[in-house]
Amino acid sequence: MSAQTGQPSLYDRLGGIYSIATVVDDLIDRVMNDPRLNANPAVNEAHHKVPPAGFKYLVTEMVGWAAGGPQKYTGRSMVDSHRDLNITPKEWDAFMDDLQQALDKFKVPAAEQAELKAIVNSTYGDIVIGKS
Ligand code: HEM
Repeated sequence: MSAQTGQPSLYDRLGGIYSIATVVDDLIDRVMNDPRLNANPAVNEAHHKVPPAGFKYLVTEMVGWAAGGPQKYTGRSMVDSHRDLNITPKEWDAFMDDLQQALDKFKVPAAEQAELKAIVNSTYGDIVIGKS
């Protein structure tokens, strides 16, 4: 339960770690194979250097943690892991489109989609170039 609102945490409303891992699995497959993202040479190189399973593990851990679950994120910071990738606002939009498709595929309800997207959007300044 969330201390502030008295309603179950986003983590619980999403269905816990099995549901989160399922959505992340689908999302990362989309992102790693998205020609709109792999057109960026730095992203393309990094995407083909990291094993998908480890990438999925870290993103699952991070979403679990950010949604109020018991996980602790053990990966690098968003600034450190994206600094050299030169990610543009257009590429960010492509990522959000992939996220939307993954959320819709698994029929995540609108309220939970909005909360999850707000969490993801809060990382914009750490990931997209032009802001520090
Ligand atoms: C256009 C958007 C994005 C692109 C193209 C992108 C691409 C990448 C790539 C290529 C890596 C591997 C970097 C490396 O190891 O050299 C990475 C790492 C990572 N990204 Fe992203 N990313 C994007 C947005 C996001 C968002 C929105 C999140 C979460 C809110 C996220 C979470 C992570 C995590 C957890 C890692 C692993 C960090 C680590 O290695 O410890 N990314 N990303």
